Amino acid sequence: MTDEIARKTLAAAAIARAAGDLQRKFFADRASIGMTFKGPQDYLTAADGAVEKLVMGMIREAFPADGVLGEETGGSKDTRALWVIDPIDGTANFATGIAHFCISIAYVHEGREEIGAIYDPMRDELFLARRGAFATCNGRPMKVSATTEFARAQVELGWSSRRPIRSYTEIVERTVAAGASFRRAGSGALGIAYVADGRSDGYAEIHINSWDCLAGIVMVREAGGRTNDFLGAGGLDEGAPILCGNPTIYEPLGKAAGLL
Ligand code: IPD
Repeated sequence: MTDEIARKTLAAAAIARAAGDLQRKFFADRASIGMTFKGPQDYLTAADGAVEKLVMGMIREAFPADGVLGEETGGSKDTRALWVIDPIDGTANFATGIAHFCISIAYVHEGREEIGAIYDPMRDELFLARRGAFATCNGRPMKVSATTEFARAQVELGWSSRRPIRSYTEIVERTVAAGASFRRAGSGALGIAYVADGRSDGYAEIHINSWDCLAGIVMVREAGGRTNDFLGAGGLDEGAPILCGNPTIYEPLGKAAGLL
């Protein structure tokens, strides 16, 4: 099994790069993006479908026995051996010409987040992690930040139109009142990968979907950080809150976000 997980880790990295190459091509030709909306502020592009098709096809060909769940087309929820894919995370950025988006691929094995691969094609950064083994950015080991005071912390607070804006502004108010600074850059997957790489001290969002956060969760844990039990909270079915951070920022951020 160990060898099988190693093979899947390499495959996740290669598939993420192939998906990123396709994203880059679409992004270079804005007219090809094909922008529509799933709901208010919920962008969908033709590129999302094309990238998901490519990724699902590559995974099904390499690992026909595994389940696959994608943001756009759905799929299996059998966590014995499940690939969870966000073809373009940061779709609103992608659709409006802002170069901050990525492909996110997670592999869940026997109910646990096992592998995470997130590729940012515009910065050529591949974030890759395997549970109990490593978390790297372009091959360099990642480590969460060393910030110890919330009053000096920089955190990302995610928000989507799935939740009322009032709940978000309350979290922002509590975070700022406790002295931390916040940002919302529009890609949950990259926001969480940045926590693993020590670029950000924490990430919180009161509702996020599995394809946006499972890959990043593996990274934060392997880079020495803490995360909530997203799968245990039923995140695969309906989405759930996400909370992650370095070991000291995790708790004050969780309190500010009303998640602890
Ligand atoms: C969204 C982004 C956003 C996060 C939302 C997600 P999408 O995913 O990750 O940053 O706050 O919760 O839905 O629509 O860009 O794939």
